[in-house]
Amino acid sequence: MVQDREQWSSTLGFILASIGSAVGIGNIWRFPYIVGVNGGGAFLVPYVISVLLFGVPLMMLELAIGRSTGKSVVSAFQSIHRRFTFAGLIIVAVVSLILGYYLVITGWVLAYALSFIIGQPMAFDMFTDSYLPLIFFLLSGLTVFVTVRSGVRKGIERASRYLIPVLIAILLFLVAFSLTGPGALEGVRFYLLPDYSRLADPGVWTAAFGQAFFSLSVGMGILLTFGSYLRKESLFRSGIIIAAADTLIAILAGLIIFPLVFTSGLDPAAGVNLAFVTLPSAFIRIQFGMMLGALFFLMLFAAALTSAVSMLEVPVAALMDSYDCPRRRATLLVVAAIMLLGLPSALSYTALKFSVFGMPFLDLADYVFGTIGLIAAALIVAIVGGWFMNRIRICAEIGGCGWRQRVYMALIRYGVPAVLLVTLAGSLLRGAG
Ligand code: PHE
Repeated sequence: MVQDREQWSSTLGFILASIGSAVGIGNIWRFPYIVGVNGGGAFLVPYVISVLLFGVPLMMLELAIGRSTGKSVVSAFQSIHRRFTFAGLIIVAVVSLILGYYLVITGWVLAYALSFIIGQPMAFDMFTDSYLPLIFFLLSGLTVFVTVRSGVRKGIERASRYLIPVLIAILLFLVAFSLTGPGALEGVRFYLLPDYSRLADPGVWTAAFGQAFFSLSVGMGILLTFGSYLRKESLFRSGIIIAAADTLIAILAGLIIFPLVFTSGLDPAAGVNLAFVTLPSAFIRIQFGMMLGALFFLMLFAAALTSAVSMLEVPVAALMDSYDCPRRRATLLVVAAIMLLGLPSALSYTALKFSVFGMPFLDLADYVFGTIGLIAAALIVAIVGGWFMNRIRICAEIGGCGWRQRVYMALIRYGVPAVLLVTLAGSLLRGAG
């Protein structure tokens, strides 16, 4: 018997779930520091261009494939042509591998939130010299398991309905607090003062492309899967709302981080250490720091959780569609597999210090799966969808075959793959260098 496919309860629910997917650790921690090291405010130019010209068209393509086939990524690709089944499986594999280490970081965030709540913030070294990160990895796995197991409406949609408004409220409160601190203006200047000469550097452009695709969660079959639970809403309008919310939240996050860092006289260029080393020590130094730290990490946890949930839905839906497996069983199987995949990353930041080529395994996973794998997956989606799916069918989903749709199709078929190839080359060079 074919089961009725679940649907979102409303357009708002779908949009909130997609914002939940897009807004993640990447917005709050990665975006601000990438802006900081890539020309400050000037970086917003290539970033907004990447989002609008490449991110949004790819988002719409994914939603269109999902809605028109009514299936998740493997079955949808299979219905475009049997030979694309394997391509669909690659995407499922990449998302699962990313989720494995994303849950490790989600666990760190949860641990930090709790440590601030009980008023005992931890040093990153001490935390990762224990086995606590492993426990928190299991806890974050358990949380996403419970959420996705409950279904599209009762799990994924409901989580975002509660968590996204809370996230935005905390964000605005922290921005207001941070901007009124002494020396805050210095931080804003460091963050946003444009250095347009940096735009001549191709590295700044590939950084913008990479960050835009990562931040919007496109090219991973997530929006494709989400699209398969959609009915009639305008994909263009939804896409723009999701992209705008994602970008705005990322920009605001920088307005929390940099003023705080400057107020406490710390180093703004800490890069990767920014969230787990620099910021906690900023919170320790300022008034109400414990409360602010707790709020900050709770916000980050909400962001990470809704992203992780959306990633988990990709393999779960694939298993349900391909084998007619009930959701509960599919979720259990997939989470068990993902915890195993994430285990080496989790262990790499414990007393065991599991490393490969002298690099913590998690850092390697972030590079191989989260950077290279993600770009490769997006390339597959753009090519299979843009070149092999019936164009009329896509147009029907995105509002007819007018000039606007022609422009999107051209962007998807030529622009997006070209940009992804350049970004791939840039990332490979950086990895080799
Ligand atoms: N977009 C999420 C973030 O900004 C991360 C993510 C990447 C989520 C890929 C899903 C897929 O953190």
